[in-house]
This record gives sequence, C-alpha cells and structure tokens, in this order.
Amino acid sequence: MWFDDSFISEVAERNDIAEVVSEYVKLGKRSGSNLFGLCPFHNEKTPSFSVSPDKQIYHCFGCGKGGGVISFIMEIEGLTYPEAVEFLARRAGMALPQQETDDGSRWRARLYALNKDAARFFHETLRASGGEKARQYLAQRQITSATATSFGLGYAPESWDSLKRAMLEKGYTEQELFSADLVRKGKNGGSYDTFRNRLVFPVIDVRGNVTGFSGRIIGDGEPKYLNTKETPVYNKGRLLFGLNLAKKSKSGYILLVEGNVDVVSLHQAGFDSAVAALGTALTNEQAQLISRYTGEVILAYDSDGAGLKASQRSIDILQKLDVKVRVLRWEGAKDPDEFIKKFGPGAFRNLIEKSESQIDYRLKNIRSRYDLSIPEQKVDYLHEATRLVASFPGSVERQVYAARIAELAGISADAVQKEVEQRRGRLLKAARKEFEKGSRPAAAVQPADRALRYSNPSSALAEEGVVRLLYLDPSLSSAASSLSGGDFTSEALGHIFTVLQERIAQKRAITVTLLADELSAQEINLLVSILEKPETMANAGRSLSDYIKAIRQQQEIHEEKPDLRALADRLKNNGKGYTS
Ligand code: CTP
Ligand code: MN
Repeated sequence: MWFDDSFISEVAERNDIAEVVSEYVKLGKRSGSNLFGLCPFHNEKTPSFSVSPDKQIYHCFGCGKGGGVISFIMEIEGLTYPEAVEFLARRAGMALPQQETDDGSRWRARLYALNKDAARFFHETLRASGGEKARQYLAQRQITSATATSFGLGYAPESWDSLKRAMLEKGYTEQELFSADLVRKGKNGGSYDTFRNRLVFPVIDVRGNVTGFSGRIIGDGEPKYLNTKETPVYNKGRLLFGLNLAKKSKSGYILLVEGNVDVVSLHQAGFDSAVAALGTALTNEQAQLISRYTGEVILAYDSDGAGLKASQRSIDILQKLDVKVRVLRWEGAKDPDEFIKKFGPGAFRNLIEKSESQIDYRLKNIRSRYDLSIPEQKVDYLHEATRLVASFPGSVERQVYAARIAELAGISADAVQKEVEQRRGRLLKAARKEFEKGSRPAAAVQPADRALRYSNPSSALAEEGVVRLLYLDPSLSSAASSLSGGDFTSEALGHIFTVLQERIAQKRAITVTLLADELSAQEINLLVSILEKPETMANAGRSLSDYIKAIRQQQEIHEEKPDLRALADRLKNNGKGYTS
C-alpha cells in the first residue's frame, strides 16, 4: 500500500513517540528533556535508551538504534515501512487511505478470517470433552496447557465434516473453505474436512494472520503430517512456523529447527527464538525473512544424515545474506525436543554457549598472543579480553564470555565477570556523559554500527555536519549544491545527502519518520545519532561552507598531491581544522 507524505505525517503526529514507546518500554528517569529506559533491542541493566518527546525520536547509545515512531514500530514489531504505518494508523483510529478495495485483498482478508475461526474451532475442540485424546497426547509429549494456548494448538476431531458445518454456520461459503484448503473434494463429488483426528498447529505469519495449518497424526501412523496446500494466503516457502513469537525474542539469534514439535518444546523450555521451516529445506525467501529479525542463526537440525545435509544447505543460503550461522551438535538424542526431555534445558543452553562463534574465534585469537604462564602476560591478556567482552551489549553474552576468559586464564569466573561489568559500567557512564553533554567524544566519531565505519573520519565529521544542517534547515539546499553524493567518503552519508537533496528539490517535507521509507534502518540509526549532536544554527550558512571546505581539503589530501607540506600548513592556519 502506498501512502502520501501528509498521511504519514498525520500518523506520526497522532502517535506520540513517548506514548508508543511506553507500551513496550518502561520509561522512567528524565534527563534534560529526554526520557530514559532499558533498551528493548538489546539486553542491558542500565538504561541507555532515550526518547526525546521534543524531537519525537528515540536513540539507544548502547546499541546505536534510533529513529522516529515508525522506525520504532518497524524494529520492535518486525514490520515493513507500510505495515508499520498501517499499524500506527490503526492504533490512532485513523481510516486507511485505500481500505483493502481490490478483489484480491478482500478475498485474502476473508480467508484469513476463516482461518482464524477455524483455528478457534480446533482450539475449542481440544479443550472440550471430545479433545481428550489429543490432550492426552500433549501430556505424553510433555506439552503444557499454557504452551498449547500460546501456540493456539488445536484438535481436528475424527469427523468428516464438523469443521465444515461449524464454518458454514458462521457464514463462510463452501468455496471459501475449498480455497483455504480446509475442506477437500472427494472422488464421488462429496467433500470432507482436510484435517481429521490430528493435532493442528496453526501457521501464523509475522503480522498475526493465521495462514494455514500443519496437522500431526496423534501417535504413530501415515502420513505423519498433513499440511495446508498452496492457497492464496499460504505458501510454505515463505513462512516459518513460530516466527510470530520468535520475532519478539531478545536472545539476539534465531534458533532454526526441523520440527514443529521441536519449536513448541523449545519455547516451552525458554528458548523463545525457535522457528521451523515447515518441512521444507530452508528457502531463500525464508532466509530473507529471518534476516529481517536477526543477524545470527543457530541451526539445531536433527542429528541424522538428512539433518546434516539440510544444515549445509541452510548455511549456504544464510551466509549469502550475511547472516552469521552457528551449528549445534549433540549426541544421544535425535532432535532438540528429545534432547531437552533427556538432558534438560540447561544442557541445551550449554550446547548453544559452547557452539563455535565469531566471538570465540576472536577470544582464541587474543589468547594465542599471550603466554599465560607469565604473570604480566596473563594480566595483559585479561585486559584485552575483558575489554572485548565489555563491549558486548547483551548481558547474557558478557556473562558467558567472561566465564570463558576465566577458564582460559585459570582464575575464578566471578572475578572476571566483576571486571567486565565494571568496565561496561565505565563505558556506559562515559557514553552517557558525552551524550548528555552533547559533545563529541573521539570514540563516538565512528557510527555504532560496524558496517558503517567511516574510512575517513575527518571528512566524515564534516559530511555529518552537512547532513545535519541540511536536515535542520532545508533552505541551505542550494548552498550545498556543489556537493554530490559521490563527494562523500561515507557511502551511507552520501546516500542520506542525496535523498535529502532530492526531497528538498521536490518540496517534500523532511522528518526522520518520512525518511524511514527511503533510507535503510542502518541509515536511519546513523541519521538520528547525527541529529543528536549539537549544531548552532545561528550562522548556519557559514558553518555549511566550512564543512564543505573541510570535505574538499580532505579530497585534496587523499589525491596525494605532491605539495603535501604546503597543504598541511594551509590546514593548520584554517582555524576550524577538521583534520584530527
Ligand atoms: N513434515 C511434513 N510431512 C511429513 C513429515 C514431516 O510436512 N510427512 C514436516 C513437519 O513440518 C515437521 C517437520 O517436517 O514438523 C519435521 O518432521 P519430523 O521431525 O518428522 O516431525 P516433528 O514435528 O519433529 O515431530 P516429532 O517430534 O513427533 O517427530
Ligand atoms: Mn522431529
């Protein structure tokens, strides 16, 4: 769906960021005009997540995420831009500009409603007296009633037409039932319920729509699973079972498993980021969907030959999308569900923590450079390793890796952990101080996001200045017309600049919220952090030309002109000096 700027602006105006954020984050402490709370995007114990009601933006100086109210909803609900706009429009009780008018989407909306009612029917059947058999099976598989509810599990009774009758009574047509694959046509012209005498798992997409069902036989028998066929709303290659719940996990990774039962069992054991690929090998579309929510996947496929092969395929697909992959291996159980039943959730947590990762690799690297039998070197090793671990935003990760460091150095985990947390505290305190003061600490010159690291920080500071001024005062646009995106040493800043200039040329309004459509989430985070830095607008025109001059000077230096010395002198005499 396409929205015009004025609609989006109205959506943003009617959804105050402090109010919206409060629905997810307890905002307490006020510092200046900003509200602070614990960041919902990474694990932390000291608040580094701030909301500015004045500027209507949020910014976390722990993990670098930031943006306007629409970016916030995109991030926390895992929605695309138009989905987030729709979400907030609904929240504010606004009518959408083009309510699902075309026939296709009206038809799909109808099938979603039907699926939801069917899921309700199955769930109620599971709870009713006829569901005894399925409830017993769940008990045998140690799936609690609460878990069954949170996944909306149900029971399709042993009957040819009980779902059909219930749905016709609700006003759905036979055609709709066929279309959703809830009823199939028999050979002799009759029809029958697709799911009979099965435990049903509703497959719910990330927007909360029931798209279809997976039906497992109760006990042994063939086929073990019966799934919704391709329908206008169900395409198994594009869906992941459990992602509707896993998308809210704070674990920092997605746990990819083979079976629906594994997903349910893992969530119940506290691993709330488990998803399964509905019996298919991971498709590119599923991998893309995953990459919207996380940069790391932990594979926990069955420990048989097929599982191994599927792992390899999935690794290839995920790595192409720049998603980090770790693989869990274990013995003595065929799948995660059985593993947890046999050895307990703690043992599974151990598997995750022991799995080789990028961090392990870096720690091992540090370790290899020191001889720990020499006391001085041991101290140096501890320094370097704790510094690395203190920089991890997640407290669980810090705890895990502190223990790892301690083990390698042969000292107590508690001591290392204390050291790590102290360092972390100092790090945050410094960051917060700089943040409140609004000054520009040397370390903060680089964007929080590693992928955006500036190749030329001196030029990038000036480039940031141009972007900031242009954002705050679009009338400076023509004064910056000598610059083009290509003059920027930072690709991200160049892109932000280009987008700003284009919008100004088109006389379109500029807000973080509106820009979230054209800029990537990374770029929005960067823009917000730039806007947090101070800028005096008193003599904005002059500042702009200083910034541009600084960019040009850096270009000259990097063109390796022979007369570098003269140039350096010129820079020195130039007052503002962006050369540090
Ligand atoms: N599957 C399927 N059709 C089958 C068998 C399996 O679609 N005939 C899919 C299901 O989505 C299933 C997944 O493949 O969840 C993994 O299969 P399996 O390991 O056999 O099922 P589990 O869900 O793990 O069930 P259980 O723990 O009872 O073995
Ligand atoms: Mn299985």
